[in-house]
Amino acid sequence: MEPPSASPRAGRGPWQELLLAVSLLAFWNPPTTAQVTVESVPPNAAEGKDALLRVLNLPGDTASLTWFKGETVLPTHKILLYVIDTKITTPGPAYSGRETIYPNGSLLFQNITLNDTGSYILQIINQKFETALVRGQLQVFHDSTEQSSGLPPGAIAGIVIGVVAGVAVIAALVYLQYFRKTGGSGPV
Ligand SMILES: *[C@@H]1O[C@H](CO)[C@@H](O)[C@H](O)[C@H]1NC(C)=O
Ligand SMILES: *[C@@H]1O[C@H](CO)[C@@H](O)[C@H](O)[C@H]1NC(C)=O
Ligand SMILES: *[C@@H]1O[C@H](CO)[C@@H](O)[C@H](O)[C@H]1NC(C)=O
Repeated sequence: MEPPSASPRAGRGPWQELLLAVSLLAFWNPPTTAQVTVESVPPNAAEGKDALLRVLNLPGDTASLTWFKGETVLPTHKILLYVIDTKITTPGPAYSGRETIYPNGSLLFQNITLNDTGSYILQIINQKFETALVRGQLQVFHDSTEQSSGLPPGAIAGIVIGVVAGVAVIAALVYLQYFRKTGGSGPV
């Protein structure tokens, strides 16, 4: 380790300080793939709203990004592929039409459904064809306020039928009650 130009008693020369600086840099620069993380924004998203799987610390030498749904990297689970150089996005079998991939790797979901809940994997391939996998999680909850403001026609028809049936039952009961009272008080 001792540079030949520095005498053992000379203390720290510029060469040694440079060596120290280089080794510190190497120490503080962990493998780029270890730094990449995925977070869901918001952490809990309401059904029908938008959610983002945000990629933090994407390596600068990234060549392509592929998002998969589920726990495994399978061609059938591919949502979107984005190639940095060509800026071309290619959808896969798991693409629902509501996902958008950004050059920074983040994946946007629009109009999320309860089915979107689950695990996602981002596959990062760099210019040396090295692969890194990063996992993300999406949590979607059922928004009851959203449901009550926009009832589907089927539900409205159901409510109308229910109300009509209820009114008919009440009318029948009232009629029977009345009939029984008048009928009971008549003869005897
Ligand atoms: C990536 O880009 C999207 C869209 O421009 C943005 O909303 C998101 O915050 C970005 N993510 C990061 C980590 O910068
Ligand atoms: C999201 O839902 C709204 C209303 O239902 C619709 O107008 C819009 O096109 C949808 N967007 C996507 C990306 O599906
Ligand atoms: C959710 O997934 C199930 C099973 O895959 C499917 O039958 C259902 O239609 C999906 N619902 C929505 C709202 O996409």
